[in-house]
Amino acid sequence: MTAERIDGKAFAAGLRERVGEFAVSFEQAAGRKAGLAVVLVGEDPASQVYVRSKGKACLAANMASFEHKLGDDTSREELLGVIDKLNADDAVDGILVQLPLPDHLDEQEVIARISPDKDVDGFHVINAGRLSVGQSGFVPCTPLGCMMLLADRLGDLSGLEAVVIGRSNIVGKPMAQLLLDANATVTIAHSRTKDLKSVVKRADIVVAAVGRPEMVGKDWLKDGATVIDVGINRLPPEEGKEKGKLVGDVDYGEASEVAAAITPVPGGVGPMTIAVLLRNTMVAAHRNAGVALEEGAL
Ligand code: GUN
Repeated sequence: MTAERIDGKAFAAGLRERVGEFAVSFEQAAGRKAGLAVVLVGEDPASQVYVRSKGKACLAANMASFEHKLGDDTSREELLGVIDKLNADDAVDGILVQLPLPDHLDEQEVIARISPDKDVDGFHVINAGRLSVGQSGFVPCTPLGCMMLLADRLGDLSGLEAVVIGRSNIVGKPMAQLLLDANATVTIAHSRTKDLKSVVKRADIVVAAVGRPEMVGKDWLKDGATVIDVGINRLPPEEGKEKGKLVGDVDYGEASEVAAAITPVPGGVGPMTIAVLLRNTMVAAHRNAGVALEEGAL
């Protein structure tokens, strides 16, 4: 079997375009643009790249972007003060504090300060709680993007065996919850799982989110599985090259021989994250401004 490539980049472009259309009608109804504020503390180069691309994506989708760049030595009080101001600002519908934060700042305390109604990352305990009891709230962008790709490819997931590799609060746990809500039979596997390979091999759906380059090979996968690769790992550079190749947690070439469908890296899950962030911000804007948005419209 040669697996079908799940084109996350194209799917994300379509979602961004739909969000952009909703942004225009939102502006007409609310008399202002939907707005996303991104807070970056410190100089981490990867974070700077992410923040820049989030800002650009907002503008391209007819939304307002507010960037707050703070120094490495920003105090707890200063950062919490910035969040308080954004919570109170009616032009701001969504607030994202780029992670990781410098070591002297407590990520959980900072996330807890964001108003749950503006927590478009879905990281606040209130939103994690809402997801776990089936109430509507904000769902973390990467797992929600993975679910969109799965639903688009497979339709009804009822009764399918799903294995999520990785148990982070940002991806693994919410991913498992979403799959469970879709009536899949869900296993969360992790670094302490015994005989990980045979656990993964029973899955109709594999979501790999561990950060170990090309860990999942063809002998890990059931024939016809659907594979969602959340990993983004950079291999050491080959001789004469400045940068190493980007690979996922799945060996794409090998897995393609066995799987029915697989997301590539890059161009699979990655582009979905920002598209879903815009989607969540658009949903927040409608709720915050009291403008109706049909359930499931986005
Ligand atoms: N750092 C890497 N990915 C993310 C994300 O999705 N949200 C936030 N806030 N920080 C990140």
